[in-house]
Amino acid sequence: MRGTVVVENLTKTYHTKQRKGLFKSVPRDVEALKGVSMDVKEGEIFGLLGPNGAGKTTMIKILSTLLLPSSGTARLNGYDVMTDDNAVRATVGCMLMGDRGLYWKLTGRENLMYFGALYHYSPADRKRRAQEIIDMLDLGDLADRSVETYSSGQKMKLAFGKALINDAPLLILDEPTNTLDVPSASELRAIVRQKNQQEGKTVIYTTHIMAEAETLCDRVAIIDYGELLAMGRVPDLKASLGREHITRIAGVIPSKAVEEVKKLPAVSQATLGSVDGMAELTVMSHNGTDTLARLIETLSHVGATIQKITPQDVTLEDVFIAKTGRTLAENTAVEIAAKK
Ligand SMILES: Nc1ncnc2c1ncn2[C@@H]1O[C@H](COP(=O)(O)OP(=O)(O)OP(=O)(O)O)[C@@H](O)[C@H]1O
Ligand SMILES: [Mg+2]
Repeated sequence: MRGTVVVENLTKTYHTKQRKGLFKSVPRDVEALKGVSMDVKEGEIFGLLGPNGAGKTTMIKILSTLLLPSSGTARLNGYDVMTDDNAVRATVGCMLMGDRGLYWKLTGRENLMYFGALYHYSPADRKRRAQEIIDMLDLGDLADRSVETYSSGQKMKLAFGKALINDAPLLILDEPTNTLDVPSASELRAIVRQKNQQEGKTVIYTTHIMAEAETLCDRVAIIDYGELLAMGRVPDLKASLGREHITRIAGVIPSKAVEEVKKLPAVSQATLGSVDGMAELTVMSHNGTDTLARLIETLSHVGATIQKITPQDVTLEDVFIAKTGRTLAENTAVEIAAKK
């Protein structure tokens, strides 16, 4: 049972108020989770993926007993989050997004020792454990500076260290690489891998970066608007797209191109996003090469200027696109309209 998680039909509705004008507000319910079931097996790195607002943090907060679900059940290491919350907390190491739960006036080392005390470590053990984590994360001199002087990436690293303090069999990490630069992010992922492979820890890892999940996770669950879209091993999810071909076309592409391209018989999905400030059209089709000529013709017809065409292997992001018709970064996507 060490490190296992079983979630059944979990729902969470937030009851909030929506401002209407200056003095009036009306009640508004937000259904953050709409009956999600998933299971995490002992010793795996399990990715919880989804775009902004999908419900990832809500799920993590319920699993770490910070929030009660509206209905459904979640059992961690055999303990129920509703009725055995103390037992759940004792077997979980958690790093949450947003509020990192660090004491800013204390140094990094003092923070780690304080959290060690909460787990009833003796003063000598706390000291040893804090030093082990400082060495593991290469915090160096930073460990003895107050947290308020840390950069956001450094705070993130310390928050990760906090999740390791009680040496729990299950690590729950909510977007741990957010705000980290590329080398620090890959260093953190390497430590997660090491904890998993050498110490057998089970890891739940949320991210909205599909490529990160692909490199790290054994299995993933993709959620969107509080619903489970897909769950499984990364290669199986990719294989579920069958013999789809993915073509990415970069250039100046008007948004109406999407509808026109979708009308082509072999095209099953088309979405417009942006990469490095340039519009990028992702097209899924049943027969890559045969469709290419018609694709180019259609694009030039709507006034697009094509700069690059790249046939691609199926990625996890394509699984999301196939299910939703949206890219993960859709809300931030820049649509570059043709000037004519
Ligand atoms: N305390 C709250 N009160 C009301 N609504 C909330 C609250 N917390 C979250 N929500 C809403 O619930 C939904 C899910 O939010 P959640 O933070 O779980 O998403 P997320 O997948 O973690 O997103 P992100 O990638 O941006 O961190 C969103 O629509 C959000 O606005
Ligand atoms: Mg979140």
